[in-house]
Amino acid sequence: MDRRPEDMERINTPELAQKFIDEQIRAIREQVGDKKVLLALSGGVDSSVVAALLIKAIGQNLVCVHVNHGLLRKGEPEQVIQVFRDEMNANLIYVDAVDRFLDKLEGVSDPEQKRHIIGAEFIDVFADEARKLEGVEFLAQGTIWPDILESEAGIKAHHNAGGLPEDIASRFELVEPVRILFKDEVRMVGKELGLPDNMVYRQPFPGPGLGVRCPGAITRDRLEAVRESDAILREEFAKNGLEGKVWQYFTVVPDFKSTGITDGKRTFNWPCIIRAINTTDVMEVTVEHLPDELIDHLVKRITTEVPGINRVLIDYTPKPPATVEYE
Ligand code: XMP
Repeated sequence: MDRRPEDMERINTPELAQKFIDEQIRAIREQVGDKKVLLALSGGVDSSVVAALLIKAIGQNLVCVHVNHGLLRKGEPEQVIQVFRDEMNANLIYVDAVDRFLDKLEGVSDPEQKRHIIGAEFIDVFADEARKLEGVEFLAQGTIWPDILESEAGIKAHHNAGGLPEDIASRFELVEPVRILFKDEVRMVGKELGLPDNMVYRQPFPGPGLGVRCPGAITRDRLEAVRESDAILREEFAKNGLEGKVWQYFTVVPDFKSTGITDGKRTFNWPCIIRAINTTDVMEVTVEHLPDELIDHLVKRITTEVPGINRVLIDYTPKPPATVEYE
C-alpha cells in the first residue's frame, strides 16, 4: 500500500491537482485492467472524488452503489443521481432502503443501538448488492491520509466505504486512489474533476446521518421535521454568506413537546434546535454567534414552514462540555 512520501508537495493548485489526476488514472488502469470495481457512493467528498476519478479511468466498469437509508439530507440522493448518472454517465445502482432502515429503527431509543443498527444495516444492504454482481474483484474506498494516520495512532478504527468492516473489504482487492491525500487536497482534486462546489466544499456529515439529530426513537414525522428545518438552515446560511465560513451547522428536533399558539389555537409541538460551530481539530469546538436578523428570519421560516415545530432554540454550548452531535 502506498504511503504519502515525506517530501510530497502539497496539492494546492489546479495544475498539481491535474497532474495527480493523470497519475491516478494511469495507476487505476494498471491496477484493475478491464475488471469491474465496486464503490459505495455516499455523496460525501471522499467517495464522490473517488467515483469521479474512477469514471474517468474505467468508465462503465465502475459500479457505484448509492444507498438511501432515509437519513440523508434533503436533496442528497437526487444530487448523487443527477451528478453521477445524468452528468457523468456513471454505472450507478440506486438502492431505496428507506423502509428497511426506518422499520429496523422503529422504537429504538438508545443512541449506541441506533448507530449499530444503521451501520450493520448498511453493510447488509451493500453486501446484498455486491452479491448480485458477478465478477467484481475490486472495491474502491475513499480512504484519505488522516484516516491512515488516525488508525495507526489507534485513535479510530480504519473504516471506510460507509463503514464497511475489514472482513467484507478484504474479500476484494482495494482501490484507494486518494489515500495519500489530505482533505484540502481531495477537495482541490474534486474541483478539478468538475464536481459541484456544494459537493466538494460540503460540511462534515456523520455516517448515521440525520438519525443522530432525531434523538431517541426515530419517527418518520419528526425525521421529516429535522430534514426540512436543516434544508431551511442550509438555504439561509448560503444566502447570508455563511456557507463555507461556518464549519458545521444543522438542526436537531428533540423528542419532547411544548405548548404554543398559532392563529389563536393551542398547539402542542416539538422545538427545533439550531447548532452552528467552528473547529480546527473537532476535539474542541466554539459556537458561531448568529446575527439577530438571521435568527428572527430562521425562527419565522422554521415555525411556519416545518410541520410539527412551534418553537426554535439556539444551542450556544461549546465542546467541551457538549459534543457536536446530540447522540
Ligand atoms: P462529536 O459529536 O463527537 O462530533 O463531537 C465530532 C464530529 O464528528 C462528526 N461525527 C461523525 N462522523 N460518523 C462520522 O463520519 C459518525 O458516526 C459521527 N459522529 C459524529 C460530527 O458531525 C462532528 O463533525
